[in-house]
Amino acid sequence: MRFKVTVVGAGFVGSTTAQRIFERGYADVVLVDIVEDKPQGLALDMMESGPVIGTDAKVVGSNGYEETADSDVVVITAGLPRKPGMTRDDLLLTNMKIVGSVTEQVAKYSPNAVLVIVSNPLDAMVQHAKAVSGFPKERVVGMAGILDTARFRTFLAMELETSVTNVQAYVLGGHGDSMVPLIGTTTVGGVPVAQLIEANRLEEIVQRTRDGGAEIVGLLKTGSAYYAPSAASAQMVEAILLDRKEILPCAAFLEGEYGINGLYAGVPVKLGAGGVEQVIEIDLTAEEKAALTRSAEAVQELVNVMAANS
Ligand code: NAI
Ligand code: 2OP
Repeated sequence: MRFKVTVVGAGFVGSTTAQRIFERGYADVVLVDIVEDKPQGLALDMMESGPVIGTDAKVVGSNGYEETADSDVVVITAGLPRKPGMTRDDLLLTNMKIVGSVTEQVAKYSPNAVLVIVSNPLDAMVQHAKAVSGFPKERVVGMAGILDTARFRTFLAMELETSVTNVQAYVLGGHGDSMVPLIGTTTVGGVPVAQLIEANRLEEIVQRTRDGGAEIVGLLKTGSAYYAPSAASAQMVEAILLDRKEILPCAAFLEGEYGINGLYAGVPVKLGAGGVEQVIEIDLTAEEKAALTRSAEAVQELVNVMAANS
């Protein structure tokens, strides 16, 4: 029997996430959206690629939740993306309502699922999904750190004209302007990056990483990134379904780790069948620790706004 994955939101991120999972062949996918016929059309189109791809997995589209019942993993991408000039935080109250109503439904139909939240502003949305679902912290996790880290790794590899696979790095903290690309632990082919790129240039690459989402929004003009976000979401789904126990930067609920309490923030976690099986605490420089604290404070501000509007 194949695994079952639901993806809610059949927009750019949701549909490409569904496609990536479908193409791997080990999970059937249910794609849900409020727009009538859209998820059904996308699902049928994807299914018809099966003979070419060589997968027998199934994708169905739906405007309801009955078909999502007993999913192993639910990915929530429903919500508005930002437009040029908007920050992720501008989406807060609109997406809070959408993510809240979607979470209620998926929690009802798949009470044992792991929820992977993607909608923005990410850290606030995953905090909200945990509260609404009532699921344990291990089974509600947010996607952002893999994406931010992938951007950082891409820019470093471009700078050094080397394979992206040689670049080991982490971007921690909230998925916003205050995210924290780590320098101290970043290596390229095992060599600390600070030995390879001079400090000013490294700072420019760090800033480009922080602005990575806005750079794509500025180019696309009508929406935000989806190829890299869907690749990151599918990696998380795979780590959970296949119990890979992969260490990946994800938004996890912290209870004292990194000095952060009662709040989601991007940190390295071990992702497996149980969801977030462990938060990995790595040594940070004093500067990095202070930046992570500031980033968590920015997330807390959004959580406070949500509380005031609940
Ligand atoms: P999109 O506009 O292409 O798709 C959003 C979809 O959600 C639409 O099809 C819409 O009909 C659907 N939707 C809206 N309300 C719904 C509801 N109540 N139930 C079911 N579906 C509903 O947007 P895109 O580009 O797919 O982005 C989706 C979200 O993911 C945005 O909030 C975006 O900011 C966020 N995002 C987060 C990233 C991260 O790193 N965490 C990366 C990229 C996007
Ligand atoms: C991104 O970073 C919009 O959060 C999304 O591309």
